[in-house]
Amino acid sequence: MSPKKQSAYAVPKLTNFSAKTLGARSTELRAALEEEIRRLLLIQTAGGLEHDAEWKQRWEECKALRDRWVARKNGIVTQLKDLWLNPAPSDKKSEVGRRFNELKTHIEEEVNRAQALLQRMETDDQNAIIESDPSGHFGSYDEALKSTQGLDITLPGIRHPLGAEHPVIKTMNEMVRVFRNLGYSVEEGPEIETDYYNFEALNFPPNHPARDTQDTLFMANQESKPLRDRLLLRTHTSPVQIRTMEKMKPPVRVVCPGKVHRNDAPDATHSPIFHQIEGLAVDTNITFCDLKGTLDHAMKEMFGSSVRTRFYPSFFPFTEPSADVQISCIFCGGRGYRDGGPCRNCKASGWIELLGCGMVDPNVYGFVDYDAKKVGGFAFGMGVERIAILKYGVDDIQLFFNGDVRFLEQFA
Ligand code: PHE
Repeated sequence: MSPKKQSAYAVPKLTNFSAKTLGARSTELRAALEEEIRRLLLIQTAGGLEHDAEWKQRWEECKALRDRWVARKNGIVTQLKDLWLNPAPSDKKSEVGRRFNELKTHIEEEVNRAQALLQRMETDDQNAIIESDPSGHFGSYDEALKSTQGLDITLPGIRHPLGAEHPVIKTMNEMVRVFRNLGYSVEEGPEIETDYYNFEALNFPPNHPARDTQDTLFMANQESKPLRDRLLLRTHTSPVQIRTMEKMKPPVRVVCPGKVHRNDAPDATHSPIFHQIEGLAVDTNITFCDLKGTLDHAMKEMFGSSVRTRFYPSFFPFTEPSADVQISCIFCGGRGYRDGGPCRNCKASGWIELLGCGMVDPNVYGFVDYDAKKVGGFAFGMGVERIAILKYGVDDIQLFFNGDVRFLEQFA
């Protein structure tokens, strides 16, 4: 697309050589020059200048512009000399001379720059320039010139630090990898859940006190809906168990990583937002031994082969029997004392509680149309931050969420 025709600038005759008039006429001239160059460099459509013919035409226009402004014979600079400098009365000569020199230098510089820029657009930087202006419209000639002028290649470059996996995501990925290697696939579910998936189908009956342990954040204005449809922020990743069993027939082996929410005040060990990884295996002939072996293996993969596990009776509505899994303290090697004193990390017990698990309660199968007489399985759930805290020796869970690069870059 060629630049639009415009009424060409003509140097006016000066009858008055006052500083004010000179200033005003100089400003007009500069504006006219700027406008002409802007039109020359205007790219109407991205890619429009990719055609050779277009470039040739643009180049001819650029040469014409140069001739118009700086040609010795009747160029605008020459006219300035004839119409402004020469007729100036002797008492105004030096002032007009200064102006003339200023304008001459300015015109020559601007024309040279425009020509250089057009050349760059045509050759190596054509795409870069067009890409830097995706709308394809070089609105400002000044903007365009900033690619050619004032470029100091000795200045240090702008650093763009490489991002790195967040320690929580890193830990989550490591844990998921352990289970992937055992043949588990990955499932995800929504963070805003219904009462049905977060509680009812997991065998938390309405008003059952087990719900209290979940410190649930409920969505407002849900009272008009039936209880099971009311929305809440999921308090654990266990609803993904239900969603998975709804859409998959046994055998099932899945891990479900994700974000969960609880109404906990933030402190060094609590955060209202944290992450869990859920696991579920359903098949024929799955026993508690399989559960123990799987989690013992996973903990050894995560914390090293010298780590031991023990299973402690516990309660979850959706597993029966249920257990809390403890690992031998990774700080004192399970001895309970360290550096001549009691180990603070395990409160001198030698054990650290890490996750919940159990055999899936037959009631749960009733909600997903599995035949509890034919299939059985186990489930487990663990907090990702808790694992990261132990693995990396972090003493405050809030560090994971504050976004302080000095903390985060240590995991890069
Ligand atoms: N969902 C449980 C919780 O967050 C953990 C869990 C998962 C326990 C799976 C047993 C089986 O408290």
